[in-house]
Amino acid sequence: MLEISILLADDDLVFLQLTSDFLRKNGYAVDCSSNIEATETLLQKNNYDIMMLDMCFPALYDGFSLLDKVRENYPDLPVLMISGSGHIPDAVKAIKNGAMDFIEKPIDTTHLLLRLERIYDGIVTKKQMHSLRLAAIGMQGNSAVMQKIYDDICKAARFDCPVLITGETGAGKELAARAVHRLSKYGEKNLVSINCASIPKELFEAELFGYESGSFTGAVKAHRGYFEFADQNSLFMDEISQLPLEVQAKLLRVVSENEIQKIGGKVQKVNTRIISATNQNLEKLTEEKLFRKDLFYRLNTIEINIPPLRKRIEDIPVLAEYFMNEFCTRNDIPPKPISPSAVSWLCEQKWEGNVRELKNAVERAVVFSKNDHLTMVDFTTPSESDLSDREYGSLRKAITSFEKAYIENVLRIYNYNIRQAAYHLQMDKSNLFKKISALKITLPTR
Ligand SMILES: Nc1ncnc2c1ncn2[C@@H]1O[C@H](COP(=O)(O)OP(=O)(O)OP(=O)(O)O)[C@@H](O)[C@H]1O
Ligand SMILES: [Mg+2]
Repeated sequence: MLEISILLADDDLVFLQLTSDFLRKNGYAVDCSSNIEATETLLQKNNYDIMMLDMCFPALYDGFSLLDKVRENYPDLPVLMISGSGHIPDAVKAIKNGAMDFIEKPIDTTHLLLRLERIYDGIVTKKQMHSLRLAAIGMQGNSAVMQKIYDDICKAARFDCPVLITGETGAGKELAARAVHRLSKYGEKNLVSINCASIPKELFEAELFGYESGSFTGAVKAHRGYFEFADQNSLFMDEISQLPLEVQAKLLRVVSENEIQKIGGKVQKVNTRIISATNQNLEKLTEEKLFRKDLFYRLNTIEINIPPLRKRIEDIPVLAEYFMNEFCTRNDIPPKPISPSAVSWLCEQKWEGNVRELKNAVERAVVFSKNDHLTMVDFTTPSESDLSDREYGSLRKAITSFEKAYIENVLRIYNYNIRQAAYHLQMDKSNLFKKISALKITLPTR
């Protein structure tokens, strides 16, 4: 059963205690608040499924003004109003003002459960639909933090405005960006993506906005930019902090006016939804004048922060098992279950490279393991096990094997885009091709 969370706001402490105990016994997760400030803080911090609100909340507001605020700031949150008076006009007013339902004090518990169940049915269907869609994208993890991210992704997908995804390297920013796109109105189309770190500074404008033929020496043929490609679609701008300042000014125009101007061309309208990502602190960069403040505030209309894996260790067992199954299926071998002690060991690691590092560790363990299941030994890094492994006796062999694994990894990250991988590895494309052939790396057929 999916857990439904309730925020219960009432200044009657005895009522709070009794009702929350009763609801918890019936499987609901409940937070209580007895004043306006606490209510507002809890609403900001958590994503509740239902709010139960007293009609006569004291101090600055009455329950109705708080209801208005909730409707405005959390339009999807169903509110069940609690009436102390049983006064019918108040109940009618509550419904008119956007409450989903109301219930009278003293509360008839059977009645309350029925009312909540009615609201619950709608929520469960919505939650199940979301998790089914996210599972189809391959996003795993059931921690409370991830649940909130799923909710944020679904909200972001519904609105046509810029989304900024932040988080440490390997935390899952690109996956989240793809999820926002997939669930959005453009979801049927392929996501157009661009890695801002892989474009040389002088080519940015031409790459983003395109150019007309003859607009500069060498512009023999007209060229369409990423924005034109992504018209009526989403554009994923990865590593957005790498955008040169001059280009930032031009991007601001696209975001605010929905207009682009090709080099040597006319202004034209585009409808592109920008999803950007960064592992940098953009706000700090704005203070250092390395990123435009006005652009930052546009791009982060909706911000989704993906916390590092060490802050959601509950997800590690699920993720590890998912990566093991996925890797074994992809390589046509039977699954190699991970022993409970290895799972505990995985949960204790720091994972500075986050989910990507965990994924690589699991895949490497499957490759190196000689048994039908994975134990802790299979997860120790090659540098440790290599010392005792005769196959990797010589330093040259160890370096070659590391080089191959590293290049394969970079290629995979850039979806086998040789230009971007070469840029990341800081080598030319032709040298990368030589390495690929010398190290016998297989490229996927397209
Ligand atoms: N919640 C998740 N469920 C399943 N796989 C995940 C999850 N999060 C991340 N991954 C996987 O981990 C790897 C890294 O994720 P991703 O590329 O989205 O990270 P990132 O934050 O964009 O990293 P970087 O900052 O280095 O670009 C990918 O293979 C991705 O599929
Ligand atoms: Mg990324």
